[in-house]
Amino acid sequence: MSERSGFATRVGVILATAGSAVGLGNVWRFPYVAGQNGGAAFIIIYIGCLLVLGIPGMLSEFIIGRRGQSNAARAYHNFSGSRIWRMVGHLGILTSTIILGFYAVVAGWCLQYLFASTVGTLSGDAQYVANYFSTFASNPWKPCFWGVAFILMTHFVIVRGVQKGIERASKILMPILFILLVVIVIAACSLPGAWQGVTFLIKPNFSQLDHHVMLDALGQAFFSLSLGTACLCTYASYFSRETHLPRAAAQIAFIDLGIAILSGLMIFPAVFAVGVEPSQGPSLIFVTLPNVFQQAFTAMPLLGRVIAILFYALLVFAALTSTISMHEIGTAFFTEELHLPRKRSAWILTTVCSVLAVLCSLSVGAVEGISVLGQSLLDFCDNLTAKFMLPLGGLLTSIFIGWFANQRDVRDELTNHGTVAQRLFPIYQLTVRFIVPVLILLVFLHQFELL
Ligand code: TRP
Repeated sequence: MSERSGFATRVGVILATAGSAVGLGNVWRFPYVAGQNGGAAFIIIYIGCLLVLGIPGMLSEFIIGRRGQSNAARAYHNFSGSRIWRMVGHLGILTSTIILGFYAVVAGWCLQYLFASTVGTLSGDAQYVANYFSTFASNPWKPCFWGVAFILMTHFVIVRGVQKGIERASKILMPILFILLVVIVIAACSLPGAWQGVTFLIKPNFSQLDHHVMLDALGQAFFSLSLGTACLCTYASYFSRETHLPRAAAQIAFIDLGIAILSGLMIFPAVFAVGVEPSQGPSLIFVTLPNVFQQAFTAMPLLGRVIAILFYALLVFAALTSTISMHEIGTAFFTEELHLPRKRSAWILTTVCSVLAVLCSLSVGAVEGISVLGQSLLDFCDNLTAKFMLPLGGLLTSIFIGWFANQRDVRDELTNHGTVAQRLFPIYQLTVRFIVPVLILLVFLHQFELL
């Protein structure tokens, strides 16, 4: 059979795929979106979205990827026998390249904050910390440097290959990430007044619930599980024939949710202990939190600093396992479709993403006029992918697998040729044919304010 390498171990499969899913989406985006949408009530809706949309969506990409045993574009082609469906793969590769471009900028900010909290230049009053962020983000050189550095870190993992690069990095980074998270959660929850933050996360208040909350939860589920760019499809092409796909999908969704909730338990107790508003929005981790850590641990300044260092290290690790997965989609594509050596394919992607990252970085303050439709390029890329390209990729994938793919092949792949999870197939089929497309269409209509 094929010479194609894949993940060597079962743990490797889970940790690498969970590494893709767990990222800034969990540690940075989830807490602020949950904060803006009323905490516990949002989380309940979010869990519903994971079950009805997230897990079936993951399964669809797993099925196409493992069956296709190739890069995303060819996997869609192989499954249907029709070249037209390659376009879904191409769309995914394009989307993940754009995501990598702007995601690396935010990840680069995390590197700078890790550096600054280590050397001690991040401490000062609230005004200082707020100014620190705006001065740094609008500097023409520094953020570009860190963003490109982040892409290069990703590059050097990718060129080592699937097993020695991606799988090994995930096996090292994911356990460290988990330990860091637990340490910070314990420190945050032992602060006086922390209980209020915990209550915010576990006691639902349904009075705020409206369709915006539902649709935010849906969008968050998509981004957080890395759905819609054929990213999971590419990883699934490295799974073994024995991997129990439904079980793997459930485990990864569970890990992803667990890390998101732990991130909430790390951030909200500290936020409430200091008395800041939980609904701060995206600037929460760069503007509010450095100060929250200092104030929360005023009695023990050294501990406050250590916590800040651990927190930014955690963000860097979480982001890195995600950028690796975004990079791999394009690298696998260039390697297999253009027959280039893996190293050269990786350089193509690294170069394209670095250029995009520099432009995105400059667009948030250093250079006037790098904007599209009145938004900075960074915001534009973020919105374009999250609100348009990801749902589109998910929608097309679901329609493809529900209505165009050979259903016997789908069943064989889902059940490992009838050896596992046979009873799940009809439920899965119903979900991808009807429920997932309708829900995604709803998100779409909401995004474009047609609803
Ligand atoms: N899921 C990651 C996070 O939560 C981000 C990510 C990685 C992603 N790969 C992706 C998002 C592919 C969309 C598509 O941060």
